[in-house]
Amino acid sequence: MNSKINWGILGCGWVARDYVAPGILAASNACLVALSDPDPSAMAAITALSPGMASYTELDRFLQTPGLDAVYIATPNHLHRPLTEAAARAGKHILCEKPMATITTDAEAMVSACRDACVQYGTAFDQRFQARHRALKDLAASGALGTITAARVHYACWTPSDWVPPTQSAHDNWRVDPARAGGGAFIDLAPHGLDLLQWIVGEQIIEVGSLFQRRVFEYPVDDGAVLMGRFENGALLTMNVAYNCPDAFPRRTLEIVGTEAMAIAFNTMGQTPGGSLTLVNAKTGASREVLIPEADDLSPFQSQIAAFSQALLDGAPFAFTPERDLHTMRLLEMASASAGGVRIAITG
Ligand SMILES: NC(=O)c1ccc[n+]([C@@H]2O[C@H](COP(=O)([O-])OP(=O)(O)OC[C@H]3O[C@@H](n4cnc5c(N)ncnc54)[C@H](O)[C@@H]3O)[C@@H](O)[C@H]2O)c1
Repeated sequence: MNSKINWGILGCGWVARDYVAPGILAASNACLVALSDPDPSAMAAITALSPGMASYTELDRFLQTPGLDAVYIATPNHLHRPLTEAAARAGKHILCEKPMATITTDAEAMVSACRDACVQYGTAFDQRFQARHRALKDLAASGALGTITAARVHYACWTPSDWVPPTQSAHDNWRVDPARAGGGAFIDLAPHGLDLLQWIVGEQIIEVGSLFQRRVFEYPVDDGAVLMGRFENGALLTMNVAYNCPDAFPRRTLEIVGTEAMAIAFNTMGQTPGGSLTLVNAKTGASREVLIPEADDLSPFQSQIAAFSQALLDGAPFAFTPERDLHTMRLLEMASASAGGVRIAITG
């Protein structure tokens, strides 16, 4: 029996080069064997990390790589559906970047394609594997926060129309193209918060509404949004996501408010380990930092690859079902619809 899963990456841009490939190379139960991207220079940046792996500009040749078990899809959002369908038809398991797709019907088709082909599908929400988020989930589940009343997320960045990822010199900024991204700051950033909060609180969000803005940039997608919602258990949620928030500001915060304690995770949302998790006691106001042993504070991408690979090696389902990801897609769509719907304006 195999002791490692052979991975290929479809789409070798920013997230693949800086986080996914290093995560696969670091996971003890995974190997990176093939790459595919229409841009050979994008692949070259990854082959430099581990020379000798196969790289293909043609999808069919990539999918025929001998021994390829699983495919990580890291392309612009509109390609997630056709590439998932092609990889599933070729019998490959799939971990696909968020958002699953630009519209829910595409996401549903992806899940059906994987089910029909008897391959596993997972959405790559790396933040589920951030060590401080896992500690926070355990604290919430243990009752240490008391009755959870509210959850808040602020997740934002600065994304002008000519935005270039931190470690790249040139970039085709598809994120502000509605056809390829499916929207702007909201569809890019809100999926992380919706997924994470439902997982940490341990309840589905069942009601959502939102307002969008185009305040700073002139591109045809939202550059900021607020979302409010309600969990099944009655806890409320608020979220502010933005492309118009200067990177120098505090802009990555997740808070869970309970009757016994409040948890504040700062600089934990994103692609990296680190940040801080602080608990404030409801009776005394005293705060203490939840410390994570250095050895456990791994790249969330590495931990995610290790978890998905292990599920495949064990023949077990991945811990996060496609159905929960479809629920998140439906929430995004409901919230977007409300953003274009009825507004109550105070006029005088
Ligand atoms: N989890 C996170 O924190 C995180 C961070 C960044 C991006 N993402 C997601 O990852 C995905 C990729 O984002 P990015 O920032 O890396 O984009 P990017 O533009 O840097 O890279 C995309 C790559 O896909 C390639 N590509 C285009 N068409 C292709 C095709 N048909 N087959 C294979 N490759 C193709 C492009 O040439 C490019 O190299 C998006 O879905 C995005 O939402 C997630």
